Amino acid sequence: MKLKGKVGIITGAARGIGQATAYQYAREGARVVVCDLNLEMLQETLDELTKMGADKLAYEVDVTDRQTIQQMVDDVMGQWGRIDVLVNNAGITADAQLKKMAEADFDKVIDINLKGVFNCAQMVIPQMIEQGGGVILNASSVVGVYGNFGQTNYAATKWGVIGMTKTWAKELGKNGIRVNAVAPGFILTPMVQKMPENVLDMMKDKSPLKRLGTPEDIAHAYAWLASDEAGFITGTVLSVDGGVVL
Ligand code: NAI
Repeated sequence: MKLKGKVGIITGAARGIGQATAYQYAREGARVVVCDLNLEMLQETLDELTKMGADKLAYEVDVTDRQTIQQMVDDVMGQWGRIDVLVNNAGITADAQLKKMAEADFDKVIDINLKGVFNCAQMVIPQMIEQGGGVILNASSVVGVYGNFGQTNYAATKWGVIGMTKTWAKELGKNGIRVNAVAPGFILTPMVQKMPENVLDMMKDKSPLKRLGTPEDIAHAYAWLASDEAGFITGTVLSVDGGVVL
């Protein structure tokens, strides 16, 4: 019960890594706030959290829409009176090689994966400062650190997230707020399942562990980094990638 009593917000919690993180937070005793583009998408997550007997709240939040984020923060404060953890998980891909990438696809990925992280963090920190601490965890990627064919926009956001993580760790440490990023490798979720089979086989083969990651592999990292056991860790990027870049 590493997160007993803590209130954790997870963006993009309807499926994939965000959903697995919501379940892991519940297992570790957290009170879980799940949000995604609409409430219908969150039904599966909510049903499972109910089965687990978790304390939960759900919100329709688009991370590019500052008003919906603020409404969620205000409502969570009204209901539970604190926010201990924010997992900035929501993200998308819109892949194309540089020569073919549409400007609209560049802007969209920046808006969700980079500015969305800024939006959510900016809205929770007044409360974290007020209560004397908190944890912000940001979804980076192995692709942010090393680049990837066809992912100009995505790689830019995931590298940008690392810059924001380190900056916020410096700015907010005095307020007891820790800020870290997780850089997953290739994790079997709907986002990755749309990649060609041969590319996934290649990634599997490149990893010394000879497998792709599971959403739970990442959820465990998010749970541990949010816990007091990671109390002296801030401004870091934790690779959870099966050694795929070794
Ligand atoms: P996914 O596509 O399975 O799930 C993403 C969730 O985010 C969806 O439920 C979606 O509705 C939600 N979402 C999308 N746009 C949103 C918005 N504007 N506002 C709120 N929610 C929104 O993705 P997956 O694989 O679970 O990835 C989660 C995070 O982890 C992403 O930031 C991704 O970039 C990152 N990541 C994933 C890797 C992988 O191999 N699956 C590898 C490295 C990083």
